[in-house]
Amino acid sequence: MNRLQGKVAVITGAASGMGRATAIRFAAEGAAVVVADLNSQGAETVISEIAAAGGKAVFQRTDVSSEADIKALIDRAVHEYGRLDITYNNAGIGGATGHLEEVTVEDWDKTFHVLTRAVFLGIKHSVGPMRKAGGGSIISTSSVAGLKGAAGLSAYSAAKAAVVNLTESAAIEYGRDRIRVNCICPGGVITPLVYRGQPGGEEAARKNMAKQQPIPRAGQPEDIAAMALFLASDESEWVTGTAMVVDGGMNTGNARIFFGQGFSGPSFQRRER
Ligand code: NAI
Repeated sequence: MNRLQGKVAVITGAASGMGRATAIRFAAEGAAVVVADLNSQGAETVISEIAAAGGKAVFQRTDVSSEADIKALIDRAVHEYGRLDITYNNAGIGGATGHLEEVTVEDWDKTFHVLTRAVFLGIKHSVGPMRKAGGGSIISTSSVAGLKGAAGLSAYSAAKAAVVNLTESAAIEYGRDRIRVNCICPGGVITPLVYRGQPGGEEAARKNMAKQQPIPRAGQPEDIAAMALFLASDESEWVTGTAMVVDGGMNTGNARIFFGQGFSGPSFQRRER
């Protein structure tokens, strides 16, 4: 408790999934939170949950791909709570899916607007107020898909890879201002983004996702909120420019390759066991 006492946080995509879980956790740890999303109804529910638990939060309707909206969001945090300590650029969509050769330029651009341009804007407009506050922590949501390619998700994967690189550049530029910049690379986390419209819905997705990494369960939004809390708090004071992988081990290697028991020697000799 109280790991974020006195801090002010902006969280985008906070009406649902990881952003929602993080808003609730940050508020429980003492932060005043500005919940930003396109989904007003979902956001108002989050605000009520936070208030009912004795926390502080307000909603700012925001389209993260709009510079005017991001600027208004950061201004709201400063006007409402007097400062800005934490920005979590988390809002996201699946974006263009399917074979690369059939992806339209329009869908490619829309994917990048929400997943990459928004992160650029979030960093760009947070730096000034954070510098005034004597430092801060900027966190963005990338993905394990940003560390390796992903079939059928080329735009998403490339947009998330850009987030990792942008995180590094910003960390270098603003380290001297005591502004830390990190991102989180989640694996398969059970949120509406992954199960909405899928056959079998949430339960089927949960079962399927349990098989996709060494730790045999789907990721929970709270798993990501816990990492965001560490990166937002002063406990991570010496951590910047990193891509924190939170994926139950999904990114460790190829889970499909398994050799039988034995010893595999030089290839010109017969394998003995
Ligand atoms: P979610 O769909 O539950 O939450 C995403 C939120 O972003 C929603 O509330 C949505 O309304 C909001 N949003 C979408 N476009 C927006 C826009 N233009 N402006 C403002 N808000 C907007 O999904 P989830 O899974 O919690 O996603 C959070 C982040 O995690 C995203 O960046 C996603 O790409 C990323 N991610 C998700 C993974 C998963 O397995 N669920 C894995 C790796 C990364």
